[in-house]
Amino acid sequence: MAFDKEGFSIDRKAGREGDASALAFTDDVRRKTDRLYPAVAQFIPEFEWRLHAPYIAAINDLKAEKNAVILAHNYMTPEIFHCVGDYAGDSLQLAKEAAQTDADIIVQAGVHFMAETSKILCPEKTVLIPDMRAGCSLASSITGADIRLLKEKYPGAPVVTYVNTTADVKAETDVCCTSSNAVEVVEWAAREWGSDTVLFLPDQYLARNVAAMTDVRIITWAGSCEVHERFTAEDIREMRRATPGVIVLAHPECPPDVLAEADFAGSTSGISNYVKENQPRDVVLITECSMSDNVAVENPNVNFVRPCNLCPHMKRITLPGILRALQTGEHEVTIDPEIIRRARAPIDRMLALPLTRQSMYTHEGPAEVAKVEARG
Ligand code: 13P
Ligand code: SF4
Repeated sequence: MAFDKEGFSIDRKAGREGDASALAFTDDVRRKTDRLYPAVAQFIPEFEWRLHAPYIAAINDLKAEKNAVILAHNYMTPEIFHCVGDYAGDSLQLAKEAAQTDADIIVQAGVHFMAETSKILCPEKTVLIPDMRAGCSLASSITGADIRLLKEKYPGAPVVTYVNTTADVKAETDVCCTSSNAVEVVEWAAREWGSDTVLFLPDQYLARNVAAMTDVRIITWAGSCEVHERFTAEDIREMRRATPGVIVLAHPECPPDVLAEADFAGSTSGISNYVKENQPRDVVLITECSMSDNVAVENPNVNFVRPCNLCPHMKRITLPGILRALQTGEHEVTIDPEIIRRARAPIDRMLALPLTRQSMYTHEGPAEVAKVEARG
């Protein structure tokens, strides 16, 4: 097989065929992976582990060989999250890791906007995403052109966008936020721009949940997360009936009436920390499916009630895809350098803000959904 200067297989097809012959559960694979199995044994039966382990061994070997790191979001499946991820966390933590890593290659085990964020923060590094189709309904709900029209409609109001947006949108943004710092970022932007109004885009539910925690006037957008918007307040009441005393933890991308039924709402890391610190007897995480598995590993005494709403985009990331990315350099995330320059400022602003408290959410606040008409 031929390789280019970064050590990726030039003949990509040959790279794939190479995988198949190498991927047996050999003694060498067993030796390299045995210490990893106990963490995930409660979710992955042994016969299934024998299929995953050869990929895990090959990925971990290639990472060392190529000075690559894998950034794994909390929604990755346990064999990715616990067995090949070098850094794991919510989208804010992953952005911080990307900004600090001295690896040459970043493989994003997450969705495309996360990989773009890594590329914006590390333009000199090779950033790979194992599947280009790993999108996000929030990121695809708004464009840079929409933001320009909104700025004309609301002059003087700072633009705060969720990191779940494309690089083009970030290039039009004043400051980014994630669900773990949204309330603080909105208040900071209002002070800094001397404005009582903030454009908070594109998640209408997160916007309403933020609006409940601040006096700043929030103008938002009709975007939503296709995973979290499926939960209903009645689902939660039903879970409480089925498991009396269950503690309900929800992600703030859920609609406000869902949060009103929850005991706590925060980012994926906020939820994970809550479980670690409070050790509830029974808990239900109102968020993407894989979170419960990943948090359960570190909290063996907590019983997780598991409703399952999968994010189809996150689930496109698999061990074979990660291995292929490391072998072939597929798929490299590239962004126009001028967009990188402009998109970096709002991310840097967010990362520079001292986060004094994790944003928490309780109930619905007033947020107006803006409409702009594209020019024809
Ligand atoms: P977090 O920042 O809470 O990890 O959320 C990212 C995401 O995509 C949730 O759906
Ligand atoms: Fe986007 Fe929702 Fe999937 Fe997160 S869970 S990546 S917000 S679609």
